[in-house]
Amino acid sequence: MEPVYLDMDPGHDDALALLVALACLPVQGVTVAAGNQTVDKTLRNARRVIDAAGVPALALRQGAEHPLFRPLVTAGSVHGTSGLDGYDFHDLHPMQESSEPALGWLRSQMAGNREPATWIATAPLTNVASFILGHPDLLGRIGMISLMGGALQGGNITECAEFNFYVDPDAAAIVLGSGIPIRMVGLDVTHKALLSQSGIQRFRQLKGKVGEMLYGLFTFFADHEPDATDQGVPIHDVLAVAAASHPEFFTWLSADLTVERCDPHCRGQVQIVKGTALGSLQVATDIDTGRFFAWMWDVLEGQYGS
Ligand code: BDR
Ligand code: CA
Repeated sequence: MEPVYLDMDPGHDDALALLVALACLPVQGVTVAAGNQTVDKTLRNARRVIDAAGVPALALRQGAEHPLFRPLVTAGSVHGTSGLDGYDFHDLHPMQESSEPALGWLRSQMAGNREPATWIATAPLTNVASFILGHPDLLGRIGMISLMGGALQGGNITECAEFNFYVDPDAAAIVLGSGIPIRMVGLDVTHKALLSQSGIQRFRQLKGKVGEMLYGLFTFFADHEPDATDQGVPIHDVLAVAAASHPEFFTWLSADLTVERCDPHCRGQVQIVKGTALGSLQVATDIDTGRFFAWMWDVLEGQYGS
């Protein structure tokens, strides 16, 4: 299978997405951006999850400290001051991270791969857009981007915008307009895939640190995610992993989209572009939640089960 890269801002749902991706895809490395928290924290959180997953040698590189052209907006009210509140990580021996910047590392990776890569992006799209702008000669090395962001209807940080697209709308517009094949998984489907209380309890049956970690993290997240309901809490980012490996779980609409950058009231809103037909952009409009959850539990229990 083609090499897979993750760009994230862990973040509770990013942490779950990372664990699931590591268990089922040939992940070559992880880059982090600022988003749910500042990038020093998202880097530390990615390290904690990678270590908990038992793959400490996996490449991890720090990317953007702030959006392309705007000040950073974080989501501390949802993910806590650490960005991963709800579990005590006991950081006794924090690892020294490579100082090689994410973009340089990605450049050498993409240039060296024999096959075009799959890129799963679950943060504000600052790193992805910077790569696209900086390396037009390497765009053909990206086979597909599966991203969590945006919404055809509604929003979560404002009435009309989803968080990742709101934080860096300029980056989102660059990525959506790049012509690279994209699967966009937005709130239209992530608000349908709710992790119930019994699902959160089920994490405890996973062995070692992963089980207790996911249980603590998602107990916190269910209390703080504003779109959690009696039915459960949205687990947004892992759906972008599912979309990369199992697009058949979703209903897709082919559409050309852009993102509002100028009007402050609609900042980050997804808009359908009339009259163009790049044909490379697929938006998820529905999800078979039964098949998705059966797959997610199979992956988690296959890798981390007792
Ligand atoms: C997205 O925003 C972040 O808070 C989550 O990690 C997810 O990527 C949901 O809108
Ligand atoms: Ca995220």
